Amino acid sequence: MSDANMLLNYVPIYVMLPLGVVNVDNVFEDPDGLRKQLQQLRAAGVDGIMVDVWWGIIEKKGPKQYEWDAYRSLFQVVKECDLKIQAIMSFHQCGGNVGDVVNIPIPQWVRDKGESDPDIFYTNLSGTRNQEYLTIGVDHKPLFHGRTAIQIYSDYMKSFREKMSDFLESGVIIDIEVGLGPAGELRYPSYPQTQGWVFPGIGEFQCYDKYLKADFKEAATKAGHPEWELPDDAGTYNDVPESTGFFKSDGGTYTTEKGKFFLTWYSNKLIKHGDQILDEANKAFLGCKVKLAIKVSGIHWWYKVPNHAAELTAGYYNLDDRDGYRPIARMLTRHDDAILNFTCLEMRDSEQSSDAESAPQELVQQVLSGAWRENIEAAGENALSRYDATAYNQILLNARPNGVNKNGPPKLRMYGVTYLRLSDDLLEETNFDIFKKFVRKMHADQDYCDDPQKYNHHLAPLKRSLPEVPIENLLDATEVIPPFPWNEETDMKVDD
Ligand SMILES: *[C@@H]1O[C@H](CO)[C@@H](O)[C@H](O)[C@H]1NC(C)=O
Ligand SMILES: *[C@@H]1O[C@H](CO)[C@@H](O)[C@H](O)[C@H]1NC(C)=O
Repeated sequence: MSDANMLLNYVPIYVMLPLGVVNVDNVFEDPDGLRKQLQQLRAAGVDGIMVDVWWGIIEKKGPKQYEWDAYRSLFQVVKECDLKIQAIMSFHQCGGNVGDVVNIPIPQWVRDKGESDPDIFYTNLSGTRNQEYLTIGVDHKPLFHGRTAIQIYSDYMKSFREKMSDFLESGVIIDIEVGLGPAGELRYPSYPQTQGWVFPGIGEFQCYDKYLKADFKEAATKAGHPEWELPDDAGTYNDVPESTGFFKSDGGTYTTEKGKFFLTWYSNKLIKHGDQILDEANKAFLGCKVKLAIKVSGIHWWYKVPNHAAELTAGYYNLDDRDGYRPIARMLTRHDDAILNFTCLEMRDSEQSSDAESAPQELVQQVLSGAWRENIEAAGENALSRYDATAYNQILLNARPNGVNKNGPPKLRMYGVTYLRLSDDLLEETNFDIFKKFVRKMHADQDYCDDPQKYNHHLAPLKRSLPEVPIENLLDATEVIPPFPWNEETDMKVDD
């Protein structure tokens, strides 16, 4: 076995920085404290960090009044600690989702617009608004001092590129993850805790703002059904599927022509939203040695029942006989092969309570396999903070589902894994000792390597996206193909 071959089994590991590292007032509060922590990560062999770059902080003062200084200081410290940066363009609010300990709303001047026009926000059937993220319905509406939502996102990314060009050119920033919805994920805010959702509620469709309503009417009319309305039988946040007309197994609306039309429209809107913002991201970062990435949410509850209710309300039209994820992967192929980033890598089915009909392992296998079938790289992260060997071993298994290959690249390999997240608990001695072993196993028992080319991360200058394709072409990828076979357990194990 040659060292070069073994390096092809190396999966880099990144650690997510704490929320609030740059605070809501745009101040990088504790550079010295962070530096010490980053040095510890570096010594443990960690490859890089990931950090949210909040719209609500940077463009807080007013339209196009970007202030990048605090983030520049932060990136400088990361660079000095010899770590790589994955930057997330976070166009959503921080606060209101699992694990959110800090509150960063979207800019006030945008929320002000919501005072006179509350329909700029996602809305549920009874009219409750959600201020986490602008509705897809305003993507092309010039409501914000003359700019559309997509223009705002585009300008922001261009400003980032301009102000961070030195970090981009020197290869410190390696990935740009483009936030596409609540929690930065390509999805609808179907399960907001702020509105009383609790696990494992099915969630609700969020398409009842006037812009999406009008869009649906137009689509239905074009399809020859002007009488079709948005669903009113899909229940409320904490229902079980069987108690709703839409999802019930006996003749549920989701199985009817009308239901299928709605679900296709709802999920296609989401894919187009991602596609168009990625096109802007691609223009903004053209020529930079970065990869673009998007995040897809791990909706593992109700995965085992035929209606997949929770995935459907989130916008993933995934059924036992319809793949809702592979079309997303196929969409990514036109953007110089953007990366599909998935969550809940650490979860095991046996840890889930049975009343949630949850199957995170099968879901991970479906989504990663779909990405690999489309020749897209897949990355991932854990959904919840865990410090135990069981969770680490599950992540290691998913990182190389068929194990290490001593003679070349592994058959299947994730592009990178992000550990969520840096905290005092993680650095506490016992926890950190296990974590260090985990990092070493991610690297296939090899030392830290500072040259991504050596483990097959070819960072070529970003090429322009290919021309847009009709959504119908992407829908060819809804055909269900069984996932790749997965080993039972990993050959790179951590023990407590
Ligand atoms: C995947 O998502 C995690 C969590 O948001 C992030 O830290 C990481 O940078 C992403 N990976 C890529 C390749 O963008
Ligand atoms: C909409 O949100 C409100 C506020 O959380 C909630 O009370 C209601 O049940 C939700 N759904 C419907 C269909 O009314």
